[in-house]
Amino acid sequence: MEEDGKDTLRVLVTGANSGLGFATCCRLIDEFLATRPQSQTLHLLYSTRDGKKGDQTLLNLNKHLQKTLEAANARTPGISLLLEPRIVLEGVLVDLTKLPTIKALARQLLARKQRLDGVVWNAGIAGWSGLNFVQATWDILTGLVQATTYPKFLICDVGMVTKPQLAGHGTIHTFPEPPLAQVFCSNVFGHYMLTHWLAPLMTPDTRIVWISSTSALPDMFNLDDLQGFRSEMAYESSKRLTDLLVMTYDLPSTQPFVRKFLPAVGKKDDVRDRPQMILTHPGIVQTSIVTLSWFNFYLNLLAIYVARWIGSPWHTITSYKGCLAAVFAILAPPAQLLDFETRDGKGKWGTSTDVFGNERVARTEVEGWGFGRELGVVPAGSVRTKRTGYRKPTKEMREEFEEAGRRVWREMEELRVEWEKRLGRIEIDGADSVDM
Ligand SMILES: NC(=O)c1ccc[n+]([C@@H]2O[C@H](COP(=O)([O-])OP(=O)(O)OC[C@H]3O[C@@H](n4cnc5c(N)ncnc54)[C@H](OP(=O)(O)O)[C@@H]3O)[C@@H](O)[C@H]2O)c1
Repeated sequence: MEEDGKDTLRVLVTGANSGLGFATCCRLIDEFLATRPQSQTLHLLYSTRDGKKGDQTLLNLNKHLQKTLEAANARTPGISLLLEPRIVLEGVLVDLTKLPTIKALARQLLARKQRLDGVVWNAGIAGWSGLNFVQATWDILTGLVQATTYPKFLICDVGMVTKPQLAGHGTIHTFPEPPLAQVFCSNVFGHYMLTHWLAPLMTPDTRIVWISSTSALPDMFNLDDLQGFRSEMAYESSKRLTDLLVMTYDLPSTQPFVRKFLPAVGKKDDVRDRPQMILTHPGIVQTSIVTLSWFNFYLNLLAIYVARWIGSPWHTITSYKGCLAAVFAILAPPAQLLDFETRDGKGKWGTSTDVFGNERVARTEVEGWGFGRELGVVPAGSVRTKRTGYRKPTKEMREEFEEAGRRVWREMEELRVEWEKRLGRIEIDGADSVDM
């Protein structure tokens, strides 16, 4: 890897053209400029699915940067001359449901041999085809906070699969191609492959930030249907899978698989020698992840504001507020995040809010796992919420969670190895090739 100095923080954010991904880029810029020394530069790699969206995102990010600089100038005239060169914006292309494009992005970045300090695996789809209006109305009228935090009225497009991966990409197509579930591929597997391929650019200090959801509940995921082919909650299933993978990343029982997925960088070959995986969620945010008519859009907006006003801690509503947990996961000094994970166990870091919309980062319970290492212990700063159907975690549930974690790691690794065989090795500049 090229030594490009510790003065550049290089971060890749996927799905950056809208919603939380765009807001994450904006807030990373703002918080980086406000908290990091003047000697440091942020190299922000933002991904979109096509060049047109990439160009528009660059325009929008520059607009945001100019606003931030104007505000800084108003406080300290002329300071923008120092701040502006500290932000380097660069668009990259990837479609996470098309594995060859993921491989192409990995090849592009590997060829440069520049260290990656952080990635935010934000891109995702919900896979909903609409909502059951009658059920939504009933659920909202009978339990507003529950209905808008763990919605059961969204209609899932069951069984959606990606387009064939291998046709026309010049790959070694000697195996029949099995289907890949679309929501699983865009939300989890695409990022999983990208993480593995980019591993040579990562160090033990690299932070891999995953975006989960409050709705990642235990009964949304079926261990016998990893990809959610048959699931009527494919989105929630993909988020529960994310929780299982990240929470059990450090456990001794998953190491036989984790070791192959992300080979250790240091000599000890333990979890401290690997990049850090951090689980976050944004709370509930009004974005285009769910397509609503204008009428339903405003009805939903009203419902989620009311949910906040009556005390829900998760209704962050705007993307800039919601993305705080992901930004914190990238920028927080080790003493404010990683040391807590070492002391209290891995956590799910969510963006929480008070009734006035003041956001903060809070540990969130992962049902079956709890808040951290010790069952029943709720570390300071956590937010506790109870939903209808909530079951207090027991020793047996924790064991089941850990066993499920081991199993999903094994199955994800099997799938990765299969797909790598189909897609072939990564060739760099037609000369080097990377065996992973
Ligand atoms: N909104 C919420 O309340 C909420 C709550 C919990 C978690 N989240 C999570 O937050 C993340 C961002 O969601 P959002 O609410 O901001 O939704 P959004 O506004 O729809 O943004 C999703 C982004 O992901 C991109 N994307 C989708 N499929 C992709 C693919 N196959 N390859 C590459 N990029 C792809 C989209 O690009 P295109 O524009 O090209 O489609 C878009 O940039 C998701 O992981 C979501 O699950 C959201």
